[in-house]
Amino acid sequence: MSRSPGPINLFEFEALARKRLPKKEYDYIAGGATDELSVERNRRAYESWALRPRVLRNVSALDLSTTVLGKKVSLPVLLAPCGGHKKAHPEGEIATYRAAAAAGTILAVSANASTSFEALARAAAGRLWLQFYPFRDREMTKSWLRRAQEAGYEAVCITLDSVWPSKRERNIRNNYKQLRGVNYPKAAPGKSPVRGGGDPAATWKDLEWIKSQTELPVVAKGIMTGEDAELCAEAGADAIIVSNHGGRHLDNTLATVEVLSEAVAAAKGRVEILLDGGVRRGADVVKALALGARAVFIGRPLFWGLAVDGQQGVARVLEILREEIEITMAKCGRSTVASIDSTVVVKAPPL
Ligand SMILES: Cc1cc2nc3c(=O)[nH]c(=O)nc-3n(C[C@H](O)[C@H](O)[C@H](O)COP(=O)(O)O)c2cc1C
Repeated sequence: MSRSPGPINLFEFEALARKRLPKKEYDYIAGGATDELSVERNRRAYESWALRPRVLRNVSALDLSTTVLGKKVSLPVLLAPCGGHKKAHPEGEIATYRAAAAAGTILAVSANASTSFEALARAAAGRLWLQFYPFRDREMTKSWLRRAQEAGYEAVCITLDSVWPSKRERNIRNNYKQLRGVNYPKAAPGKSPVRGGGDPAATWKDLEWIKSQTELPVVAKGIMTGEDAELCAEAGADAIIVSNHGGRHLDNTLATVEVLSEAVAAAKGRVEILLDGGVRRGADVVKALALGARAVFIGRPLFWGLAVDGQQGVARVLEILREEIEITMAKCGRSTVASIDSTVVVKAPPL
């Protein structure tokens, strides 16, 4: 009897993960804010760019490697900071990190990780970033910056779009309770715990302050306008992630790939531009690179990989994307990531 190949694309990974996960966990991961228009738009927007195939350009040897913050990654796909990988597999972030390390890419570890930052760093010899928020408690921020540096994390990623809670209706209906990450300090008796998403009073001064407190590169996550891309550059950020949090915070935004060019223009080469949201196919990655992203992240698909087969599942998700990027690059006549320029895509007229 021939063996089933298992899921052959990221949509099939999601379908299988959906069968395996408890409904409320699936809904938590897949869901977004209010009507989930931004979740859908992040995906659909890729259809509005078409690829421009090129032929006879010697694509016999493809190189998918590139650099992010000056360091090499073996493909332009990184793993986005997402809380609670143990929701999808008991090995949680450790399984994800081992898969990322084996694939030669970076895992951005969420403030809400279900594994300690230090234990995770010891679990593989790969590359990690640490994500957190502009917290009100500056001593805690300093302590997390210290912990990140001492444990060998290579950058900090500050998520700026979550300081106000969102309305996720699936979670409300399911009475879903989000547990606090294990890395947060316990609240002192009589004091309220640090707010998970950061301080609603935060301003650009806070990002400048974080930058002044660390030698690690600072990546600003959650940028959707040219104005904010400009302010990130002025605040000294080293990179920005064009992101609407996978449509999980504010609904009714444009798709991330639709605002990418605006961010690229405003940044004027001062910061690296990364992107996440709705990346599910190798062609999506190539389109985002053609429109000016240095690399992209995947969020939900890492959970689908974990739910289907732990570390191997995440490895397979990355492998599928790698294969699809290769096909797209070869057929667009591009053998290196650096050669993926704006002439690879064209805005497709609506059908
Ligand atoms: C279950 C889940 C948890 C997430 N947790 C965080 C988080 O702790 N911090 C953060 O900055 N972004 C978080 N995100 C957002 C991701 O970093 C990323 O922006 C988004 O998932 C990208 O969109 P995609 O899921 O369509 O790939 C989370 C996303 C998901 C699906």
